[in-house]
Order: sequence, then C-alpha cells, then structure tokens
Amino acid sequence: MRISFCCTDTKAQPWLEGLRAAFPGADVAVWSAGAAPADYAVVWAPPQQFIDEQLQLKGIFNIGAGVDALLKLRLPPGVPVVRLDDAGMSVQMAEYVCHAVIRHFREFDGYEADARQGKWSYRKPRLRTDFPVGVMGLGVLGERVGRALAQFDFPVIGWSRSAKAIEGVQCFSGQAGFNDFLAASRILVCLLPLTPDTDNIMCQGTLARLKPGGYVINVARGSHLVDEDLIALIDSGHLAGATLDVFRTEPLPAAHPFWTHPNITVTPHTSARTLREESIAQIAGKIAALQRGEAVAGVVDPARGY
Ligand code: NAP
Ligand code: GLV
Repeated sequence: MRISFCCTDTKAQPWLEGLRAAFPGADVAVWSAGAAPADYAVVWAPPQQFIDEQLQLKGIFNIGAGVDALLKLRLPPGVPVVRLDDAGMSVQMAEYVCHAVIRHFREFDGYEADARQGKWSYRKPRLRTDFPVGVMGLGVLGERVGRALAQFDFPVIGWSRSAKAIEGVQCFSGQAGFNDFLAASRILVCLLPLTPDTDNIMCQGTLARLKPGGYVINVARGSHLVDEDLIALIDSGHLAGATLDVFRTEPLPAAHPFWTHPNITVTPHTSARTLREESIAQIAGKIAALQRGEAVAGVVDPARGY
C-alpha cells in the first residue's frame, strides 16, 4: 500500500512516522511531482497537480474538518473524501467559544483595562437571559459548542440545514428558520462549512437582524463574513464587537483594520487545532476499514459541499 502526504504548511516528518508505525509494510512518503501514484492521500489544501497525478486512489483524507479548499479542486469521481471527525477539535472549539462569550458577557476586557490603571470599580451584573447565543451550524463542532454554552445557562439557539433536537438548544433550520434564528440571537457564533450557500452569510442584511448590542464570533471561515459590514455595524453602535479567528486572507494582513479596532479581538486561526496523534489514529483506523471494504464515518458529500 502506498500513502502520499501532501499538506501545505504542515511539518511532514511526525505524520510520516505516525503513519508508518500504523502501517509498517506501507510506502509512506511526502508527495513530489511525478512520484508513483498512491492508494491513499493525506492532504491539506493540495495543488491540483497532486490530485491529477493520483490514478488509483481509494481515499482522500483531509487533515482538518473544513474541506472548502479541497472541494475547489477537480477530484476523481467516486473516491471518498474523508474529513477529520472531531479528533479532539470539538472540545477545543467549545473552550474557545465559551471563553469568548464569557469574556464579553462578564466584561473582562473592561476589568482588565481598569486593573491596568489600578482602578477598583464594579460593573452592574448583566443577565444571561439578555445574552442569547445563536450557533450557526450544529454539526460535529456546533453541537458540542451549543451544549457547552447551555451548561453555563446561556439561552442557546441553533441553526442548521436539517431539523435537529439538541437538549438545551432551541433549534431552527433551513432558510425558513433563518430570520427567526437571527432575531432571537444577541451573540452569533459561526460554525458553518464554507459553501456557495454560506459564503458572505454574515453581511449587513443578516447582522442587522441580531438583537441590539449583538456580538459576532467567527470560528469557521473568513469568507463567511463581510468585513466592512461588520465594522460599519460596530461603528454605528448596533453591534458591540467581535472575536474573529478566521479571515479572508491568512495571515491577516498587517494593514487590516481588524487588528486595531478597539472592539475586535483577533486570534490566528487557532480555535480548534488539528491534534496530530488523534488525527493519525483516526485516519489510520479509517484506511484499515476501507482496506477491509468497510464504510467509514466523516465522508464528505461533494454536492452538498461539506
Ligand atoms: P459539520 O459537522 O459538517 O457541520 C456543519 C453544520 O452546518 C451542520 O449542522 C449543517 O447542517 C450546517 N449547515 C451546512 N450548510 C448549511 C446551510 N446552508 N444552512 C444552514 N446550516 C448549514 O462541520 P464541523 O465539523 O462542525 O465544522 C464546521 C466548520 O468549522 C468547518 O467546515 C470549518 O470550516 C470550521 N473549522 C474551523 C476551525 C478553526 O480552527 N477555526 C477548526 C475546525 C473547523 P446539517 O446538520 O443539517 O447538515
Ligand atoms: C480548520 O480550520 C479545519 O477546518 O480543521
């Protein structure tokens, strides 16, 4: 069996070692142009040439949850594209989003600024009923985030394509449920995949529907958000601010206004990292299952885009 590794911005050696340990007899190598075609590909944002050279693939394993970069390519028909199925990501995402929500709700930025000036000053406690959190996307990550927020007694509202029932989460679905979902939300968390339907979904028209004093947390993809619309709505006072982990261009360019906006917190696409050991174990288990002719979880539907 041959496994080819083709992952942009990823240190290859530990992945190769992990995959070789899982399949001692296999030929596991970093792809180079013209190399022999592989049976399985382990990829992150590979070039089209890599895909074009693979003539006998039995499976493509994406080392992240989001497959938007991969689905932009011409992929061989019938070959399963498999995303990472949690592999330690959902707990990180729950931590990140709960932190951002609580930091905003409890005004910790304000307390930190006061403390820097040696100022001992109380703020009036706020009611969590005034801070309903809307989670767009109730998949592997969004469901875990919704459940985690509900544990802190925030009112949690969720939105997905198909109807769902999640304890502690008031669920809306489809286009028909979108405006009611937005109107019920004050803090908006984006955990949608990037598809033609969700591109630019956080724009003036949708963000203006959030409750006054709304707050945006984008942990999905930068292209879900229209940057200028967010800034205009914060500057107009309709939105209180945002925590952003993902951007249209990454790294975020030095001159981008998000860096310096006083109400925007920026982190470098780090809310849920790929954890190498868990991911190798998951991918190796699925390669073994495919070799046995068994079905695996986490197979992407290219028509749906996630
Ligand atoms: P997932 O399991 O595929 O879940 C996607 C959710 O979005 C599902 O609930 C789906 O609805 C919903 N959805 C898709 N299209 C929709 C539409 N047009 N309208 C309404 N709902 C729609 O994805 P995931 O694993 O939770 O990950 C979500 C995204 O997070 C990834 O695609 C990736 O871009 C991003 N991500 C970011 C980081 C980071 O570090 N910042 C890390 C990992 C992932 P159904 O349930 O009805 O299908
Ligand atoms: C990270 O952004 C991922 O999609 O896993």
